[in-house]
Amino acid sequence: MYICICKSITDSQIRAAADNGDDTVRKLKKKFGLASCCGSCIEMTESILKENMSKRAKPTLYIPSAA
Ligand code: FES
Repeated sequence: MYICICKSITDSQIRAAADNGDDTVRKLKKKFGLASCCGSCIEMTESILKENMSKRAKPTLYIPSAA
């Protein structure tokens, strides 16, 4: 799905870039030119980045002490 219509950038491109370390709107702007025209894609991009980050977060294993 196109997220940035002005620069023809899709959600898949944003996720792939985020997985490779371009995980902020600023970095994506530098890489693709995203959000460099009308800016309507910023909110959706931030949402995708947040979602992507939460999927990558690893669960913490809690082991209670035997005290
Ligand atoms: S939709 Fe991304 S800059 Fe316009």
